[in-house]
This record gives sequence, structure tokens and C-alpha cells, in this order.
Amino acid sequence: MREFLIAGNWKMNATSAASAELVAGIIDGVPSGEGFSVLVCPPFPYIAAVAEQARGSAVLVGAQNVSEHAKGAFTGEVAPSMLRDVGCEYVIVGHSERRAIYGETSAQVAAKFVAAQAAGLTPILCVGETLDEREAGTTEAVIDEQLDAVLDVAGIDALAAAVIAYEPVWAIGTGKTATPEQAQDVHRHIRARLAAQNEAVAGGMRILYGGSMKGENAAGLLGQPDIDGGLIGGASLKAADFLAIAAAAAAQK
Ligand code: 13P
Repeated sequence: MREFLIAGNWKMNATSAASAELVAGIIDGVPSGEGFSVLVCPPFPYIAAVAEQARGSAVLVGAQNVSEHAKGAFTGEVAPSMLRDVGCEYVIVGHSERRAIYGETSAQVAAKFVAAQAAGLTPILCVGETLDEREAGTTEAVIDEQLDAVLDVAGIDALAAAVIAYEPVWAIGTGKTATPEQAQDVHRHIRARLAAQNEAVAGGMRILYGGSMKGENAAGLLGQPDIDGGLIGGASLKAADFLAIAAAAAAQK
């Protein structure tokens, strides 16, 4: 059975004091039980301290971005091995903000995916359509292009050691959540596309939903058969809000 993953993407928020307080609150309040895990992805400067604080707790630590290069003259970039070195287990690749604001292409995202895995990180591959793309009826085509770019380079077997996050761009930070049915439709499509290449990998793949997920809508989303957790932005910045989503996941296991 797939476990839920409840992942907080703090984006460019917090301070060292705020991140220490936030992760302490999360560690204290993580529901006990099985069938789900909880992950936080702080900004780079706070990862090491947060990982130290979370060591031995139920809270996992990840990063929000990573270089596709292993080392060298790449000013301002952070190598996958560095993230491992400071205690990361996961890394988000291809977040829509990286694609839209920093021009990351699907090919670059695929390279980051491969580099992350080579260093022992579990990539969380983000895919999702804009509102224009949804209204033009191209949601599935957009997601297929984003997925296939990684499948073509990494291969289906590599996906077995990864997580996918479906984040409709129109639902991110807007307060407009996809309905459970809208999200489920896309999650089912993603799983079917993987199943066409390898049913076992598809069956084990954790596919998270992201986009204005919060305590009030988490149960409905997590109740869908192909939704295996959440990638949460705004509601991951307060321990109580984030823990409400973790509690919704725990309640379904
Ligand atoms: P919000 O939860 O703030 O909509 O952000 C979602 C997201 O982008 C997580 O990566």
C-alpha cells in the first residue's frame, strides 16, 4: 500500500528563529501512527539547522531546488551532494515557480531529477498546467510533456524512487483548490501513463496534490484513490495548519 506523504514547501519564507520554532511545533505535534510521513522543505540557509533539529524525529527534511551539476563553477547553485551532506532526503524539482519565473525547461528539470537521484536524494517531480492551458483543454498534453521529459531521460525504473506532485498552477497560492474530482482525474491520468510503461512502478508511485491545500479541504482530496499526499505552500508555514493536514492523512490510514 502507498503511504501518504505530507510535504511542506516553505518557499522563500521564514528566518532562522521562525524555522526553528516551526519545525519544533511540527515535531511536537506530528500524529502518531503509520501509513504517512511528514516532510519539510525550508529555504537553503536553514536546511542544516532544521535537519539537525529533526534528527531522530518523525519529520523528514528536503530542499526546494537543486543544481543539475555535481560541482564546479556554477555561482549561486547548490549541488545535490551538498543537500545530502546537510541532511536532506528529498528535493523538489520542476516546481512551477522555477519553470515560470526562472525559465527552467522540462529538459533541465529532467537533468536535475537524474542528478538528485545520483546523489541519493528522492526527487519530488512537480507537474501542472496553467489556467490558460486548462481552459484550452490541454491539461493532459502539458502534463504528458513534463512527465515524458523525465521518463525519456531517467527511464521508468528511476521513477520507482521518486515522488510526483500534481500542482495546477491556477490553484497555487490563489485559495482556489482543485476539486477532489478535478485532482483525481489528473492523478488517475498520471498513474495510467506510468502504468503503460510499468504497472508495478505506477502502482507504487506516490502522487501528491498541491495548490491551496489546507486542513479544511485535505480530507476530501486525500480520500481520492490516486491522491497520496500533499505538497503544501501557505498552510505549511504555521505548525497548526500543517498538522491539521497531517492529521487528515493519519485519520485515513
Ligand atoms: P499553496 O499551498 O500556497 O497554494 O502552494 C502550493 C505549492 O506551490 C507547493 O509547492
